[in-house]
Amino acid sequence: MDKPRILTGDRPTGKLHLGHYVGSILNRVKYQEQYDCFFIIADLHMLTTKPSKEDIESITANSKEMVLDYLACGIDPQKSKIYLQSAVHEVYEMNLFFEMLVSVPRLQRLPSIKDMAKSANLNEIPLGLLGYPVLQAADILMPRANLVPVGKDNESHVELTREIARRFNSLYGEVFPIPDVRIGEVPTLVGTDGSAKMSKSLNNAIYISDDAKTVEKKVRSMYTDPNRVRADVPGKVEGNPVFMYHDIFNPNKPEVEDLKTRYRSGKVGDVEVKDKLIAALNDFLDPIREQRHSFQAKTGLVEEVIFEGTQAAREEAKETLREMKKAMGLTGVWNRISRGAEKARKRREKASS
Ligand code: TRP
Repeated sequence: MDKPRILTGDRPTGKLHLGHYVGSILNRVKYQEQYDCFFIIADLHMLTTKPSKEDIESITANSKEMVLDYLACGIDPQKSKIYLQSAVHEVYEMNLFFEMLVSVPRLQRLPSIKDMAKSANLNEIPLGLLGYPVLQAADILMPRANLVPVGKDNESHVELTREIARRFNSLYGEVFPIPDVRIGEVPTLVGTDGSAKMSKSLNNAIYISDDAKTVEKKVRSMYTDPNRVRADVPGKVEGNPVFMYHDIFNPNKPEVEDLKTRYRSGKVGDVEVKDKLIAALNDFLDPIREQRHSFQAKTGLVEEVIFEGTQAAREEAKETLREMKKAMGLTGVWNRISRGAEKARKRREKASS
């Protein structure tokens, strides 16, 4: 029996941060044994808000950084295929067929599209951006994925994918499984500034590739309980990003509990709480950094991983597109035209002989 499949991925906008890690990467590493995994470098999706020549020029370097992060976190290219979306042309065709199966108001209602337009400073939504989730459906359905591990912000796109898959199957026959979504244990990680979401554009992110000194600096300036002016004032643990990070990244639970108790009763300074978080984060990141450096030292390795993954993805895409067109009856249309043309050729040959 073939393994069930996963498809997920990211736009190549730069290095990955801890929010990506707990939101999705950890799940990918966890599932890669049981599932046949496809990880997409979604450069076409990046174009929906960043279509300039410079943006396109940045795809190569950004993809390489991102894939280094993947590998460093434990994504194994022997088990998982990492591929470049724009190099799999069949997906463009699939996207067009799926566009017939979804209405404009359905897309216009998605908050994620408005959010993306807003953060890209677009006051009118480009057609391609409106179609973002349809293209994402094409990505997911291309390898006929069964499971999509994503962050909370992508949940609605997987829901739309399910609708499109059902619609396709009911119109043309069972081609696609209906994919399930899986949100990471920490659906949205707070930023170091205490704002709801860690994000590159908000400048509140700790990157997987940050060195120990950078992590230290970022944690030192982290937002804590703003009402706590001195160490002997009782502080608030709930909603305090420093403690949220402790809960997630510090494996020493008794230490975390002790810090919380002392914080609540005004018996520990922010400095100590942060020192322990810095140590925990650096312990967590050290092996990842080490891996990253060793992969980075191997010239061409990342490119090779993407190249091989893309070849494999193309094979899948060709097969799925073939089945789609067959189910839709488009193959039949072309076959009948071709057979007719063939007859015309034969008739002419006969006449001239
Ligand atoms: N939308 C994802 C993001 O926020 C990127 C992406 C594109 C994706 N295609 C996908 C995620 C398919 C999961 C499945 O960057």
